[in-house]
Amino acid sequence: MAGRYDVIVLGAGAAGMMCAIRAGRRGRSVVVLDHAGAPGEKIRISGGGRCNFTNIHAGPKNFLSANPHFAKSALARFTPQDFIAMVERHGIAWHEKTLGQLFCDNSAKDIIRMLTDEMRTAGAQLRLRTEIGDIQQTAGGYRVSTSEGVFEAASLVVATGGKSIPKMGATGFAYRIAEQFRLPVVETRPGLVPLTLDPQLLQRLAPLSGIAAPAEIRHGRTAFREALLFTHRGLSGPAILQISSYWREGEDVTVVIEPDIDVFTLLKKAKQANGRQSAQTALAEILPKRLAQHFVESEGVAGNMADQSDNRLQKLAATIQSWPVKPSGSEGYRTAEVTLGGIDTACLDSRTMEVKTVPGLFFIGECVDVTGWLGGYNFQWAWASGHVTGEAA
Ligand code: FDA
Repeated sequence: MAGRYDVIVLGAGAAGMMCAIRAGRRGRSVVVLDHAGAPGEKIRISGGGRCNFTNIHAGPKNFLSANPHFAKSALARFTPQDFIAMVERHGIAWHEKTLGQLFCDNSAKDIIRMLTDEMRTAGAQLRLRTEIGDIQQTAGGYRVSTSEGVFEAASLVVATGGKSIPKMGATGFAYRIAEQFRLPVVETRPGLVPLTLDPQLLQRLAPLSGIAAPAEIRHGRTAFREALLFTHRGLSGPAILQISSYWREGEDVTVVIEPDIDVFTLLKKAKQANGRQSAQTALAEILPKRLAQHFVESEGVAGNMADQSDNRLQKLAATIQSWPVKPSGSEGYRTAEVTLGGIDTACLDSRTMEVKTVPGLFFIGECVDVTGWLGGYNFQWAWASGHVTGEAA
């Protein structure tokens, strides 16, 4: 019901709900407003429906921000262990998939149920299908006009996420509020997103669509070792999504396929062992057949290995393990898992997420210029920033 509260939270996503729980537990009267028909829609679709809800290795090094130190305080005050403890209190079964990534055994809906149960216990109210209109700063705090009436509170927490997946209701609303209060915003762009290729290269790689291989993708001094996936639009898979957050239009990335194997040594040994086999047969020992065929054909290394000079084999190996690719772009916000950039951390207090120049106004979660790697880091940021604001708002 419209009325007066201690805290209004805009956005019933991961960060907003965590903030409401913490503030409610402190005895604050809290209302969470969201235009969607259900809370935590991104949690529901995350991790292929199983929600990669945290990463046990999460630390400041796993986040991109204009100020790499900003996230330290919140991340230290609400750790992956704190979230795991909540998950276990609710009897939700979980497992580590790989690289410290924790997933629900059953469904991401378990996490949403846990958060809404926690909100109810904490006395925080949830108002869905509520369109947010005008926001005004008043003598007593903030007045928010909505389709469901006027809400007032001493503290206003903006947790409306970024621009990724507009089809799911992402609006970039937080940046508009920042503009209203004249706060700086670091340029936003899609992150954790598949990269596209120009039509010519795409045509050459078309037969590889659907093939995955272990790879290391490098960009400057940053490198990620995970799976690479060829798609009908370009390159995807965890290794590409990770590097996409570092890549900028016009730049190259270097693809190293099978980084744990020295392909040149493998080819030389295969030639010594059986000179009558083809390079394609030797490569098919470690690469999917179509991928082996693609590299051999594109380098024109046909026939017996015995007829190939070491130089030739070295060139072939280099194509596989030092392949410079210039993506033409990315798939954009339509498929990006996150939005890079956002509310400039310079204007926020890192201990509370409160705007330094606007008392009682807070920004948390994805709308802030703190973006995690793929692998549960973004939810950990949402939980941690939500928690510290819930302590302060
Ligand atoms: P979030 O976007 O979750 O919530 C914002 C809320 O605000 C929404 O409920 C929205 O409806 C509401 N809202 C927006 N505009 C509004 C307006 N104008 N008025 C009212 N309400 C408004 N991360 C991770 O760590 N592990 C994972 O497994 C995944 N998987 C994943 C898969 C996919 C497909 C995507 C797109 C993203 C992920 N992520 C992820 C990223 C993760 O989902 C993301 O970082 C968090 O949801 C961010 O939480 P927030 O609460 O900040 O925003």
